[in-house]
Formats: sequence, structure tokens, C-alpha cells
Amino acid sequence: MSIIDLKSALELNKISQGAVFINDLPIVRSGKKSDFMIGTFFCRDQEAEFRIWEPAIFQTVLDNGPGIYDAEVIGNSYNDKEYLTVRSIAPTLNPELEKSSFLKSIPPIMLEANLRRVQERLTSLGVSDKCWKLIDQVVNDPCLEGRFQVEGAAIRYHDNVIGGLKHHTTKMLNILAAVLENSPQLKVSADLLCFAISVHDIGKVFEYDNLEVADYWYSSHRVRGVEYLCRFKDRIVNDYSEEFYRQTQAVIAGHHGEYGDRPTTVAAAIIHYIDTLESQTTRLIQELEACHDGRIYDRDWGFLEGLRLGEK
Ligand SMILES: [Fe+2]
Ligand SMILES: [Fe+2]
Repeated sequence: MSIIDLKSALELNKISQGAVFINDLPIVRSGKKSDFMIGTFFCRDQEAEFRIWEPAIFQTVLDNGPGIYDAEVIGNSYNDKEYLTVRSIAPTLNPELEKSSFLKSIPPIMLEANLRRVQERLTSLGVSDKCWKLIDQVVNDPCLEGRFQVEGAAIRYHDNVIGGLKHHTTKMLNILAAVLENSPQLKVSADLLCFAISVHDIGKVFEYDNLEVADYWYSSHRVRGVEYLCRFKDRIVNDYSEEFYRQTQAVIAGHHGEYGDRPTTVAAAIIHYIDTLESQTTRLIQELEACHDGRIYDRDWGFLEGLRLGEK
């Protein structure tokens, strides 16, 4: 069974069969005749509300929770609001479908091109070949099974898409390039800043699992990142020095500023500011793109009037 195209399935009275993905456990409401279920199907950049009117049918969703299902749906609408009525639903029988098939993603080719571009820029600003080789070894170690390339940077808020972690890290390297141009005094520490940014969130491959919280998430990506880096201690100390290794540990531990262990080094403070600028800009743009009335609500500052978006 192929994945249901949610947009075309919403067409009134159209019957579709195929795989659907439920990310959050739907809610059950009381109706006139009996309880019914309301939830949302997700697929890449599409989403569609669904309703299941018969308890005997939605019980299987309650029993199995969020996940991939095979379903038969029919397009419906009420007060101009489109939704899908689910006529049958059961856990998928297609073993090849994975959650990542349904999640939004950044194309790997684009991630690679962005990384290559910033590598050239940073190399011209003093980052050594030795540093790029070390980064490659740490983020692409076989034990990570390529997850640095696919994991999101967050579950909500910013770059919460497949490939988001690498995207966020690359955008921070772009900001680092601007910082090195503005403050040439930092160029002597270019390798340290570049390496530390590249691995600052590496622990997210253990904290998350395809944009969901993983087992043991509670020890945080900062602790898990410091733990992971231990595997490379000898190489880092040999290539550079113990100071370089300890400074990197301090960045991983302190890059959340006041929202975690406070920074104990200048490098950790600078990288905290770069991290905040990148993640908050991305969050604001994501919220603006998703909002309906052109303005967004900020927890600290209240309503923020919108800004025109689009490429020129
Ligand atoms: Fe972080
Ligand atoms: Fe980060």
C-alpha cells in the first residue's frame, strides 16, 4: 500500500486507501450517539484532520498509539472545514515504511552543498585541513550509523525536521565565518571554534530518535555529547592538546548559557550567542511561516508584528 496523498484525499467524497502516519495520540470526545476520535495525519509538509466515529474502529488507534497505519478514508467537510472520515484503520503491514518517510526533511544534497560552501569559506579564514578531518571522523563515526545527517535539531521550536541537526550546525558555521571576519583576533582559535560548533549538539543523536524523545533523553544532549567525545580523546590530544579537548568539553557543557550549566570559557560564551542567534532566527521564521494573521506571539515579548518573507 502506498502513502495516502492527504491533500487530494480531502476532496469531498473521495475514497482513498493507503498508509497514514499519526504523530500524537488523538483525542476522544463525547458525541450525541457515542464517543468519537479526532486526530491529525501528517505526511511531509501536508497534514489533515481525521475523525473516527465508531469506537470499535478507533480502539485500534488507542491500543497501538502513534505510528504508521493502513487506512481507508473518505473526504468530508463540515462548515467549510475539510477533514477525513476513517472507515477502517490497522497498524501497517508494510515493513519498509518508516517514520522518517512521513516527516519533513531537508534534502541531503542541499545539506552537503551548504556544508561544502561554508567549509571553503572557513578554510580561507584559517580553519585547517587537520580540523576538517577530525570533524569528519567525529560526526561520521560508524557507531552513529549516519544519524548526524538525519536527526532533527529539536522536536519543536527550530529545525525540527529530518536533517535539521546538520542544517542548524552548518548555519552556525556560517555565522562563525562572519564572526571571524569581524574579529580577526579570533582567527588563531579558528580550529577550536569550528570544531566545537561542529560537535556542540552531537549528543542530540542520543537524546532524540527521528524527532521523538529517545530512551534516556533526560541525561541531555550536553552530557551525552561530552560522553561521546571521550572516544576521540587520544586523537584530539595528539592532534592538538589537552587544552583543546577540555575547551571543547566546556563548549558542549556550557553552550546553553543561562538555560543550562553556565559557560565557563569565552569560547562557550561566544558559541552560546551564535547558537541562540541561529536557533531563534530559525524559530521566528518558522512561526511566521505557519501563522495566519501575519504576527506571532513571543513568550517574553508578547505579539511581534510580522516581516515580509521570500527570496528576491
Ligand atoms: Fe544544544
Ligand atoms: Fe545548537
